[in-house]
Amino acid sequence: MNDYLEMAFLAEPNDVNFGGHVHGGEVMKWMDQIGYALAVRYSKGYAVTKFVDNIDFMKPMKIGDLVRLKAQIVTTGQSSMNIAIEVTSEDLGSGLVVNNCCCTMVFVAIDANGKKRALVKG
Ligand SMILES: CC(C)(COP(=O)(O)OP(=O)(O)OC[C@H]1O[C@@H](n2cnc3c(N)ncnc32)[C@H](O)[C@@H]1OP(=O)(O)O)[C@@H](O)C(=O)NCCC(=O)NCCS
Repeated sequence: MNDYLEMAFLAEPNDVNFGGHVHGGEVMKWMDQIGYALAVRYSKGYAVTKFVDNIDFMKPMKIGDLVRLKAQIVTTGQSSMNIAIEVTSEDLGSGLVVNNCCCTMVFVAIDANGKKRALVKG
């Protein structure tokens, strides 16, 4: 599927915040990375983050959990891609899965001169 992407990895000790959970800024970086990867793949070229909306940190995430990010293209325009992103984490010992965070992001396809370009779809 060209309009959907998943990533999974372990939350590492260097991702920790002062409260002992995964740092919110790290989660935001991961969401930006998966959004970027999907936008570049979908638009067949470079893309940049334009707008981030509705970030909701619902539950904290533990170090050592299996983090899974899911990104789905919801709508597209001339140059823009509106992407919904969800983050879950799994406690590998118990198998318990928690919905940690979600947001929507807009990425814009960019040409070699740094200007927006029309999406190449399909
Ligand atoms: C991305 C950039 C080239 C767009 O420049 P621009 O010519 O002014 O673009 P526009 O205002 O026409 O917006 C481009 C598209 O984004 C959409 N858009 C812009 N702001 C938006 C917002 N707040 N919400 C939703 N969509 C938005 C526009 O509707 C347009 O969509 P369309 O082409 O599909 O119709 C420019 O804003 C830029 O370089 N921004 C910096 C990006 C950056 O540094 N990101 C962080 C690091 S990756």
